[in-house]
Amino acid sequence: MPSTLKRIGILTGGGDCPGLNAVIRSIAKPAMSFFNSKVIGIVDGFEGFVEGRMRELTKLDILGIVNLGGTILGTSNKGDPFHYPVEGPKGITILDYSEHALINYQKWDLDALFAIGGDGTMNIAYKFSKMGMNIIGVPKTIDNDLEATDVTFGYDSALAVATEAIDRLHTTASAHHRVMVIEVMGRYAGWIALGAGLAGGADIILIPEIPFKWSSIFESVLKRSRGARFSIICVAEGAKPLDGQLVVKEQDVKRTDPLRLGGIGDMVARRITEETGLETRTTVLGHLQRGGSPTAYDRILATKFGSVALQAASEKKFGNMVSLRGRDVELVRLEDAISRQRLVPLDSQLIFTARSVGTSFGD
Ligand code: F6P
Repeated sequence: MPSTLKRIGILTGGGDCPGLNAVIRSIAKPAMSFFNSKVIGIVDGFEGFVEGRMRELTKLDILGIVNLGGTILGTSNKGDPFHYPVEGPKGITILDYSEHALINYQKWDLDALFAIGGDGTMNIAYKFSKMGMNIIGVPKTIDNDLEATDVTFGYDSALAVATEAIDRLHTTASAHHRVMVIEVMGRYAGWIALGAGLAGGADIILIPEIPFKWSSIFESVLKRSRGARFSIICVAEGAKPLDGQLVVKEQDVKRTDPLRLGGIGDMVARRITEETGLETRTTVLGHLQRGGSPTAYDRILATKFGSVALQAASEKKFGNMVSLRGRDVELVRLEDAISRQRLVPLDSQLIFTARSVGTSFGD
């Protein structure tokens, strides 16, 4: 089949998530077989793009990767080319290195670039598309916090891990009559905590969208200590008390988002022990939520995303991001997709449902 896609580039940017390899495969496989394209893998996201770390992928590279977690290309959540951290004698300076990436794009003679990533990656992709690169964006994140798509792949896999963890905590919580706090990821959105908390039957779910009252949590766990004799609290890393701040583990200017969240789980557990005397333990699920194989749902969604992205590039529909709307994958302009974070709406049916089965949101 004659094609304008003689040479295409693929990069994965930001935090990894299950399903990235399924996208790489569903772009690269048909590109090699039907379009006879050369497929260039950009190593370690935009950092590798700036530094020119790129290599041609072979059919062998993409063999048997649909079920593989992580990304065969490597990724990085540092190294935004427009705010590139450069180490010097006086410390880190932030410079605009976008021209370096543009030169590599031209040097490798790319007809299209597929940028697979979250909001940070889509922002960068948009800026490069304005500079003349032929870009198609593919959204991913376990946080599920992109407004421009109904769901991102990675979310379902993270939910499966978090739900299983809650199931496991239930048995030990019940055996020891303890309060178990589980801290899950999600950045500024509560989708993982809400989904896993609902699926795992958590007694209290704390999400960033609903700042919680300490007194409400203490009352709930004390009440349960007299009945069921154990409680499960699923807390999003971005949750905060009404009178408090986000709990930040680390700040790093090299990161696309300088804040690394974490620690609210321990804080909740400590306050419960102090105020109620109940024996409490914390589990921080961390990167277990991002590692491992994608679920069947995520493999299918990621494969659909890649396939529609390649189709769009073959029709020269650049400057777009693929997006799930209902059952179908559509295209949305990158400028309409960026910087629109999707938080849990307060009138969400998920919140209503959780409340109807007795779950408290600490409000
Ligand atoms: O955006 C995905 C995510 O896993 C967030 O849920 C979390 O806050 C962050 O990335 C963790 O980043 P890192 O892998 O750099 O610790």
